[in-house]
Parts: sequence; structure tokens; C-alpha cells
Amino acid sequence: MSYVEDPGPGHGSLPPRAAFTSDAPSLSLDGTWRFRLSPSVAAAPPDVFEDGFDDSAWDELPVPSMWQLHGHGEPAYTNVHYPFPVDPPHVPSDNPTGDHRLRFDLPGGWPAGSAVLRFDGIDSCGRIWLNGTELGVTKGSRLPSEFEVGPLLRPRGNVLVVRVHQWSAGSYLEDQDMWWLSGIFRSVTLLARPSGGIGDYWVRADYDHTTGLGTIRVETGPDVVLDVPALGVTAHPAGEPLELPVEPWSAESPRLYDGTLSTVAERVPVRIGFRTVTIEDGQLKVNGRRLLLRGVNRHEHDPRSGRVVSRALALEDVLLMKRHNVNAVRTSHYPPAPEFLELCDAYGLWVVDECDLETHGFGPLGWDRNPSGEPMWAEAYLDRMRRTVERDKNRPSVILWSLGNESHTGENLARMAEWTRRRDPTRPVHYEGDHDCSYVDVHSRMYATHAEVDAIGRREDDNERRRELPFVLCEYAHAMGNGPGSLLEYRELFERYPNYQGGFVWEWIDHGLAADGHFAYGGDFGEPIHDGNFVIDGLVFPDRTPSPGLLEYAKIIEPVRISADPDGVRVANHYDFLSTEHLTFSWVLEDEGIPVAQGVLDVPVVHSGQSVSVPLPSLPTTSGESWLTVSASLTAATSWAPAGHVVGWGQLPVSPPRVRPVRPARGPVFHTAGRLVLGPGEFDPATGVLTALGGLEVRGPRLDVWRATTDNDRGSSPGPAEASQWREAGLHRMQHRVIEVDADGDELVVRTRVAPPAQAFGLFADYTWTAFDDGLRLRVEVTPDDYPGTLPRLGVTMAVPAELGTAEWFGGGPGEAYADSCQAARIGRFSSSVDGLQTPYVYPQENGNRAAVRWARFTTPDGAGVHITGEPEFAFTARRWDTAALEAARHTDDLVPGPLVHLTLDTAQHGLGTASCGPGVLPRYRLVAQKTAFTLEFRRVAVAN
Ligand code: GAL
Repeated sequence: MSYVEDPGPGHGSLPPRAAFTSDAPSLSLDGTWRFRLSPSVAAAPPDVFEDGFDDSAWDELPVPSMWQLHGHGEPAYTNVHYPFPVDPPHVPSDNPTGDHRLRFDLPGGWPAGSAVLRFDGIDSCGRIWLNGTELGVTKGSRLPSEFEVGPLLRPRGNVLVVRVHQWSAGSYLEDQDMWWLSGIFRSVTLLARPSGGIGDYWVRADYDHTTGLGTIRVETGPDVVLDVPALGVTAHPAGEPLELPVEPWSAESPRLYDGTLSTVAERVPVRIGFRTVTIEDGQLKVNGRRLLLRGVNRHEHDPRSGRVVSRALALEDVLLMKRHNVNAVRTSHYPPAPEFLELCDAYGLWVVDECDLETHGFGPLGWDRNPSGEPMWAEAYLDRMRRTVERDKNRPSVILWSLGNESHTGENLARMAEWTRRRDPTRPVHYEGDHDCSYVDVHSRMYATHAEVDAIGRREDDNERRRELPFVLCEYAHAMGNGPGSLLEYRELFERYPNYQGGFVWEWIDHGLAADGHFAYGGDFGEPIHDGNFVIDGLVFPDRTPSPGLLEYAKIIEPVRISADPDGVRVANHYDFLSTEHLTFSWVLEDEGIPVAQGVLDVPVVHSGQSVSVPLPSLPTTSGESWLTVSASLTAATSWAPAGHVVGWGQLPVSPPRVRPVRPARGPVFHTAGRLVLGPGEFDPATGVLTALGGLEVRGPRLDVWRATTDNDRGSSPGPAEASQWREAGLHRMQHRVIEVDADGDELVVRTRVAPPAQAFGLFADYTWTAFDDGLRLRVEVTPDDYPGTLPRLGVTMAVPAELGTAEWFGGGPGEAYADSCQAARIGRFSSSVDGLQTPYVYPQENGNRAAVRWARFTTPDGAGVHITGEPEFAFTARRWDTAALEAARHTDDLVPGPLVHLTLDTAQHGLGTASCGPGVLPRYRLVAQKTAFTLEFRRVAVAN
């Protein structure tokens, strides 16, 4: 059997060891290589490894890279299905094979003797030659391999050849939900290995929270000494344990002690973080404290380079996470580039480090021949786990090892767990697929509904082992498109039960690939089988712009919660360790969104898990609706955010809206020149639809219940998708039958029945218009006529001229909000261009809804336009395209501004939920059709006022 289809691990490499740097010479081999892609192994040049091989006609390719993103072949996306026949361990004969060649010279003074060539990641299988000699074969794409090359090196003209196969037996173990991309996608480095140097090390740094003492135990070679200046440790024989008072490491205070391990021949910088992970009383604890993981699942993704993620981009991820209150990462579903974990150590994030393993594609085949239970794969499984643990064992941020993802269960997984526990008894083992928890240390689930999570918390589980373990949701709240909804309710559950440890939102980033004018997803590259935009399910857009979902999550998981309290302001500390000592509490009073007073609130130090109430500051009286906003912000800059960065905020209502004077109604309705006129309004006499307001041409408002369906609306877990029920009902093509236009009094009453073709049900909508001096009041009464289900939304739609391109409003903002995702919106006065109101979901869908709006105005640059007031509130969207165009678009650049601004003015909208993968909308957020009335006032604004 060829090495490509051999189900075992690669061969020829050195035993796995920790990732580290040292003062021994090293040479980065990243840069421009020669490259040639052959359509199959057979078509690849047989003599490519020979020194004298002429590659001058080949293309150039950067290393690291994924060749499909450099014009060689195409990316392909599948979630679960293998894009090749499931015939393990065989792979297609048409196996794209990329030959990479590099000539390099050694820097002057390169020492003779041992040297190691390290590959941090090759997808999926690489065969390697140096100077004509084969070094071996590597598999396990997201794992390092090292080869001894000392005797082969020459000062000048070294020729390194790497033949990379897109498919290998290893591909069966790498069926993660992501792009299929190939190449040498992480760094290549040559490392001199001095004799008497440090081959490997493991600094185990425990912390005893009862004594405040840290213990250092170093496992390494002979004659190594440890120096940690900040701890007064000098030339300490590394093999001898040390106990000394230290500051512990946590994600909240990532105290690292810089030190060195050295021999006469080599010096290795080490960063030591003291922490002890335990499971006690069914709780996952670090340094004696139960953790609440407010996590995300992170894939490595760059919209231009795929899984080639620079250190700078990894840092951007870490900073964004920290600034959005995220405290944990699951490295789904493979070990990330090692720099990411160093950043997690330095900036403070709890990490579940997951092995490079997923065999999900066997699932649809009933898990028949699944590698997890087949002996021929046993070595490959163990090899992957060993390489994960050995590489990352020195990282204090790593608190759990994860065996992999969605590979069902089987002996090979159990053996990985067993090996891991033996090798590293200091970290518990995670794997969601071990449903009985027979070989893992934490009970993990994905996408469990709120009700299931609640039941687990009540310990209603009949499996005793599972019942006693800490519980995590390794994936939940599928952040695909607009959503996720109901994060708040998950948080409430996590906080209700003592053995809950929180969870990891799926997922951090949309894996969109940069294309001309938009981000591409599955199917955009002509893949014969693909899973469309299911790869676009992150909390940040592909360019790492935070999505509304991330802002909502940040608010839900804020470490300090501020709320109204009978005594004033309540401040609750939800950090796992920190007090509030590092925070400044400031307040601002806004009268209808205009700041009128501000100050600093005197809040005593609140310890983790505690709360206090403080009296309200003395506030001036206000004339309109006013709110006090209290924010907790960093007093001093941290490594991850500047001083003033807000970690938590709350709003307290201070005075209610001013009572509006009763204004005399203006009537009667009269007919003139083929129009109906009432006050400033002109109406179509046949339809009763408003056509002009104070001379401004408008269209509508008319009842509208449709929204451009979201990914979650289209999701069908569990039960039939909401969107297909709506579509079957015909809610997207409602017809308006005018029953009566009653224009005989001081009011204009328009009675209609709004219903879809081919259906017997519908909605009666009665519009009652009244006029005042400067405006029109509209009361809409909606009465379902046998309509059986939920509605996407309930409100009216109208259109105004495109010149009204600026929105200003008082209400929820600044971002979008929906019934079950509205915690991040505060009450204030906001403004935005109409264009700026759009959330550019990679796959266009309903977005940009501003909720709890008291009033909004849409104006031209000089302030003329229309002012809309709710009684008391409404929600709006404003777009340069209508709902049908939004629904029809497949990419953001399909949306083309038209001659109108389309407004939706709603009394309610169906929630979001996370049915794209997980539970649908909770009952309380479902918009069930029922008799409803709502009122809006429309005023023409002639000039800025
Ligand atoms: C999970 C899986 C993830 C991802 C997610 C849906 O089942 O572990 O990798 O596919 O579903 O986006």
C-alpha cells in the first residue's frame, strides 16, 4: 500500500516534543518556493527529489500557503460529507499533488552536528527529501513533524523538496466542517540542535490556593538549570522540584514568570504560569475556583490565505475576544498554530486544546467502518494525540485536552484518553462524542436545548457517571447569519446549577473567502457537493468585524453586571477571580438621549461572586424620558485594552416620557383632484394608501408580515423550518383586498383583508388615520382570520424617496436588536446613514432592525424628511432595497440601491433562535398571530429642527 493510503501515521519523524525556541541557531525556510501542481500522483514528476532537477519553469508559491488560494485548483467546502468516495483508507487516484522545492544556503557560522527540520503543518500528507535523501512522510495536517537532517546539510545549495498530496488516508481523520485546502500552510524551520542542548522540556507549575505556594517540576534532560529572576530562582537544578510563594496564573490575571532553562550548550526561554486544574464535587476548578467558561470555538481562518493565519491575525483574535469579555477558546477542531496558545498564555484565555481528529462523514453511513473503532487506525489516533499533548504541554492556558470532534466513539478514542491521562494527569480529558462519559472527565454536549440543559442541571440524568461530572456545552448558540438568539437564557442556566461550567459559542469567525466584491462560501467554486453558507457561522465577519452576535454575547457575559435596585444601583461581580478594584464606575444621565449630567459613581470594591448596592447619584430633573447609564471601565490600560474600555454597563430608567399634549384633530377628509386629503396626508381613494405627507411623496404604509428569512428561520432542527412553513403559507406574497375606504368623517378608515393566494386564511387589517396640525396618526388593527401559525414580523412597510438617507432615532441602539437578542442595545439617541444601518451578513438576510424605538426620523442631508413616533414604541429597518431583493440576494454585492428608501415599522418580530443548528425560537419569543393594534404618528419635517 502506498504511503498515501497507509492508515498509519507518517514515518521517519522524530518523537514529538514541545514547541519552543532557543538561542541555538535557526533558519526560517518560509518564503518563496518553487511549485508545481499535478492532477495525480502518477502525473507528478518522478525525479522531483533529485538535486539536479530543473524547476526553473515552475511557478512560485509562498510558503506557508494553501495552493488553492494561489490559483492552483479550487477551494471546496463540505461540512459532514467527504468529497470523495468513502472507501477507507483509499483516496481518489485523481489526487492533486503539489511539489514544492526550495534551494537554501546555511547562514555563516551554522554549527556542524545535529539539526532538525520542523514542519508546523502540512495538509494533508507530505513526503520530504533533503538533498536527494528521503526524510520521511508526515500526516496529521495540523500537527508538527520534525526530521533529523544534520548529516545531510551543506553550507550552500541545499535542496528541500516536499511533495504534498491533497488526499491521504489522513483525510478520513480530518473531516472538520471547513474548507478543503492543501499545502504547507504553517512555517518550516531549520533548527540547529547543539549536543548537550535541551531536546524537550515540560515545566509543570502548580499552584496551591490554600497556601499561595507554587510548585515547579521540570521534566527535561540532564544538567539543565532553571532561572526565574522574578522568583529569585537562580541556576536551580531543573530536575529538583521547587516550592515558593507566587502569584497564580488565570485567564483574568495571566501572570507569567519569564525564566530560562539552560545547559552549557543551549538556553531556552520559558514562560511559567502557576495554576492547578482539578475536578472536585463535580466542578471544574482552577486554583480552587469553579470556572464559568464564556467561550468560543475558534477555527483558523484568514479570508485571503485560508488556514494560514499570521501571528498578527491570531493576536487580533485574542484581543477581540478579550475586548468582548470572552474568557475561553476551544481550538476546534485541531491544535492551532503554536503562537496562538502563547498569546492565550500572555493575554489570558482558558483553552480546550483539541486534537486534529474528525470522522464525521461516517455518520451519514451509520458510522459503519468508522476509524474510531477500527484497529488499523489505532496508531494514527494515538500519534495525533501524542503530538498534540507533547507540543502544547507547557501552556498554562490549556486546561483541558480534547480528543477531537464528531468521530463517534470507539476503542481508539478510549486509548487516546488513557494515554493522555497517563502522560498528563494534570489536565482533564474532554470529548463530546463519548456520550456515556466512560473515558472522559467532563460531560460535554453540543446544541442542547435550554430544556435539556435545564434537565441536566437538575441531575435528572439516569447515567450516574455523567450526572457527577462537570458539564460544558462545547458548542452552542450557532452564530450563523443573524443570531444567535436566547443567549441570555443559556447564561441563566449556566448560573443556576453548580456543576455547569459554561460553554463555547459556535463559532468565532465566518470562513468566507475574499472574492471580487463579496465573501465566497460553499458552492461558489463549482464544487459538485458542498454545504453552501453553512461555513458562514461566526461571531465575527470574515474580515473580523464584530457581528451583532458578538456584541450581544459580550453584553450577556460581561464580568460586571449593573442593574436597577430598590436602593439605587446594583453592581454584581461575575469574574471568577478578580475583584472590581481595577474598574471605574461612571454614570451619565441622558434626557431623550441627550447627555445632561455625568459623574463617577463611588462603588466599594466588590469581590468575585459578590454584589453591592449603591445609592443613585444626585441627578438634575429632566423634561423628557431619561435614563441613567452606569458603565464599568478599566481604570488603567491592560495588555488587551486601553484605559476606559467598558467591560460592563447597565441602564436605569429615571423619568418616564413626557406626556404629549392632546391636540385637536383636523378633519374632515375631503376629495380633491382625484385624491383623498386629510390634514397633511394625501391618499389614493381606491386603496386608501398614503401617497404624500406634507408634499413629500411616500408609498404606504401597508401591512407587511414578511422578512427576508434568516439562516435560523431556514434551519430545521428540530422540526420543519419556520421559513418553509411561512413560505408554504404564502406570507411572502400577500395580497391586499380593500374592503372599504370610509372617508366620510374626520377620520379615514381603510378596511382590508391581507391574505396569500391559494389559502383560505388571512389577516384583517384596519387602518384608521387621524390628522393633527402637523401630522397624521395611524392606528392599525390586525385580526387574524383563521391564520394558523407564527408570523415573521408584524408591522407596516412604506417607502420614501432615496434622498432621505439619514436616520436619527431615540430608542434601542446603536446596533440591531431582535426579541431574543436585544441585551446589547441601550436606550439612547443615535444616528446613522441608511447604508450604515445594514449589517452585511455574508449571506444576505433580515438585518438591521432597531428595536424599542420611541421616535425616528429619516431625512435629507439638510434635515427635511419624515418623523415617525411610536405609541409608545416600534422597531424599524431602513434599506435601499425591498425585502424581496434582500431575500433574493446570495452575496452582499447582489444588493443594489434603488430609487427609494424602504422602511419597515414593526410592532413585533419573531425571535431569531438558533435553528440553523440547535434549538428554534423559545416560546416566549415566537410571534404567534393574534389580534393586535399599534399606533404610529407621521410628521413631515421640512427643515432641520
Ligand atoms: C457541529 C460541529 C462543528 C460544526 C457545527 C455546525 O456539529 O462539531 O464542527 O459543523 O456543528 O456549524
